[in-house]
Amino acid sequence: MMNWDELEQTCLSCRKCGLADTRTHVVFGVGSRDAEVLFVGEGPGENEDLQGEPFVGRGGKLLDEMLTIIDLDRTKNIYIANIVKCRPPQNRDPLNTEQDACIGYLRNQVSLLRPKIIVCLGRIAAMKLIKEDFKITREHGQWFQKSGVWMTALYHPAALLRDPRRKPETFDDLKSIQAKIREVCDHTY
Ligand code: URA
Ligand code: SF4
Repeated sequence: MMNWDELEQTCLSCRKCGLADTRTHVVFGVGSRDAEVLFVGEGPGENEDLQGEPFVGRGGKLLDEMLTIIDLDRTKNIYIANIVKCRPPQNRDPLNTEQDACIGYLRNQVSLLRPKIIVCLGRIAAMKLIKEDFKITREHGQWFQKSGVWMTALYHPAALLRDPRRKPETFDDLKSIQAKIREVCDHTY
C-alpha cells in the first residue's frame, strides 16, 4: 500500500489502461485526506479531464448544491473520487477492463482514508462498490454495511439534470446520509 503522495504521483503517470491515450489530466480526487465520508463517481467527464478535478461541470455544480443542503463541502469535510481516474472518450461508461485496471488506486485511497461512510454517485459506482446487481432506481438511498463501512448510493448528478423529477427522492436520501453521519461520524459536523 502506498502513502498519499506516492499514490498520487503513481496515478498522475499511470498508463495501465487505454484511457491514458486520450486523457488530458488524471483526476486523482479532491477533498480532505482526514474525511470520514467518501463520495465516488464513475469517471471524469470533459470538464473534469480539462481541469483535473472531479465533478466541476454542470453536474458538479449540482453536486455542490446537494452537499451544501447537508453541510458538506468538498474543500472541508469530505473526499470525492471516481472508479476510473481518466476520462472515457465521448463519456461512455468505463469498460470492465478499465475499471479493473484502476480500482486498486481507489482501494488504496479507501485504505488511507478509512471512511465511515461511502456514497456512490450513480449506478456504475454502486455496481462496483456495493453489489454487482445493484438497481439504482429501486435501491438508491438504502444502506448496506460492507466490512464495517456504511454504503449507500444516490442518483448521479447528471441523471438528476436529465430528470429533475428524481430530486425529491434525492433530498430524502441526503437527509438519510445526514442522519447516518450524526450516528457514526465524530468530526464531520
Ligand atoms: N461524473 C463522474 O462520475 N465523475 C466525475 O468526476 C464527473 C462526472
Ligand atoms: Fe491508469 Fe486508471 Fe488512468 Fe487507466 S484510468 S490509465 S488505470 S489512472
